[in-house]
Amino acid sequence: MEFTTKLTDNNFDVASDCLVIPLYESTKLEKLLTGLEDTQKQTILQLDAAGDISRKAGQTTLIHCQQLAAKRLLFIGCGKSSDFAELRESITSVYQALTKLPVKHASIVADTWYVEYIEYAQLLQQVATLFTTRSYQYDHTLSKKADGVKLEKISMLSTNPLPTDYALERGQAIGKGINTAKHLGNLPPNICTPSFLAETASNLSKQHKNLMVTVLDEAELKNIGMHSLLSVSAGSDQPAKVAIMHYKGAADSERPYVLVGKGVTFDSGGISIKPGAKMDEMKFDMCGAASVIGTMQTACELNLPLNIIGVIGAVENMPSGRATKPGDVINTLSGQTVEVLNTDAEGRLVLCDLLTYVERFNPETVVDIATLTGACVVALGNHTSGLFTDDIELSYHLLEAGQYTYDRAWPMPLWKEYDKQLESNFADMGNIGGPGAGSVTAACFLARFTKNYTWAHLDIAGTAWLEGKEKGATGRPVSLLSQYLIDRCDY
Ligand code: BES
Ligand code: MN
Ligand code: ZN
Repeated sequence: MEFTTKLTDNNFDVASDCLVIPLYESTKLEKLLTGLEDTQKQTILQLDAAGDISRKAGQTTLIHCQQLAAKRLLFIGCGKSSDFAELRESITSVYQALTKLPVKHASIVADTWYVEYIEYAQLLQQVATLFTTRSYQYDHTLSKKADGVKLEKISMLSTNPLPTDYALERGQAIGKGINTAKHLGNLPPNICTPSFLAETASNLSKQHKNLMVTVLDEAELKNIGMHSLLSVSAGSDQPAKVAIMHYKGAADSERPYVLVGKGVTFDSGGISIKPGAKMDEMKFDMCGAASVIGTMQTACELNLPLNIIGVIGAVENMPSGRATKPGDVINTLSGQTVEVLNTDAEGRLVLCDLLTYVERFNPETVVDIATLTGACVVALGNHTSGLFTDDIELSYHLLEAGQYTYDRAWPMPLWKEYDKQLESNFADMGNIGGPGAGSVTAACFLARFTKNYTWAHLDIAGTAWLEGKEKGATGRPVSLLSQYLIDRCDY
C-alpha cells in the first residue's frame, strides 16, 4: 500500500475510486461540500436531512457519484469529538468499508478528522499504521490462503501545507514491523523454533545493509558463560540460540540503544509443568523477541540516525531427563548464583544473562521486553504493558511513546521490599519471590543484573496477544519501541 499526502483546496477535484469524508456530530456538512456543484450538493444534503448519512461512531455511508472526480463518496461517522480510542475505531471502520469495495485508490479528507490532543501528524501516522496492520492476515498454515487486499493507494487530503509525508512513512514502517512481530508470534511452535527465530533475525540483515546480525550457538553461549540461559533449554531437543542485531545509523562514537527480547518459543513450564488449559498460548512466549525483530525492521526502513542493538534469547522450555530441576543452583554470566525454585519462571533466567552480556556495548539505554509473568496480566489486564524502571527520564520517554502511538505502558514499582522476597538460603537469590506481586519480583530479579546502565523492563504478558475469537499476536509493543527510538533522533 502506498500512502501520500495531497494538498488541495477542493477535495472533490481529486480523482480516486473513493473519497472518504469523516463526519462528527457537530460537522456542518454543507460547509464541507462547498467544492460541489449545486445539484450534487443538494442531493447529498437531502440524504443527510432524511437521516441517511449516519454520524454514529464507526458507521459508514456509501454514495455512488456520476459526475465527480471520485467514483464514490464514503462518509464515516465519528460520533462526538472522539478520543484516541474512538478515532482508531473509526480509522479501522474506514479500512473495513474500503476493503469490501472494489477500491484501489482511496482519498481521505484528513484535516477535518480532528480529535483534541491528537496532532495532525499523529493522526496520519495512526492511519498508516492501522491500514498496514489490518492488511496482515495469517494464512501460513491454512490450506485456504487469504485473499489479497485490493487497496493500493491512499491519499490523505489536506489544505495544510506543512510537510507531513514523514508521518505516513513512519506509520507504515511501524505497521510493517508490527506485522513481522505478529507473524512470528502466530507461527506454531513446531515451525517457530529457537533456530527459526534466530534465522529470521539473521535474514533481516540481507534486506538492510545497515544491519549486521550474529547468531551464537550453544557451544558459544557455553563459552561466554550464559549458563542461566542454557539451563532453560537443557530439557529441550531444540538448541538455544542468541541473535545479536547491530543496526548502525550513526557514528561509532554514538552509544547504542539496546533492546533485549525474551524468545521462549514454547514455554511448557519445564519440570514445573504448566496445567493443560491454554498451554498452546505459550507459543506466544517469544513475543518479546518478535517485537525486537519488528522494531529493528522499522528502524531499518526508516534509516533512523541512531545506533541500535537488538538481542534475542531464543530457547524452548521443556521437561526431560536433562531438564533443570527445582532446587538446582545455576551460575549466571554475572557471577551471581540462582536457586531455580520453579522452572516455569524461566524468562528471567534467559534475560539475566543477556542483560549482563549487553553491558559490553556501553549502552545509552537498555529496554527488555518479555511476556514475563501471568501476574502482570492479573495486575493490568490486556490494555497496558507493565513498565518497570528506576530512571525517571527513561520512564517518561517510554510512557510518552506509548501514549503517542496508543501502545500504552503503565509504571510499576521496583522497591527493595519486593526485592527482598527473592532471598535464598542456597544461592544469591531464588528465581521466584513468593505469592505476592509476581510481576514486581520478576522485575526486581532482572534489576539485579542491570546495575551498570540505564534500564527499563516491559512486561507484555497481557498485551502481546489476544485470546478468544480474535486470538493472535498483537505486535505490541513495536509501536511504543519504534516511537521511543524515533523520538531519540534530532529531528
Ligand atoms: N511465560 C510465562 C508468563 C505468562 C503466563 C505470560 C501466562 C502470559 C500468560 C512465564 O514464563 C511464567 O510461566 N511465569 C510464571 C512465574 C511463576 C512461576 C513465578 C507465572 O506467571 O505463573
Ligand atoms: Mn514460564
Ligand atoms: Zn515464559
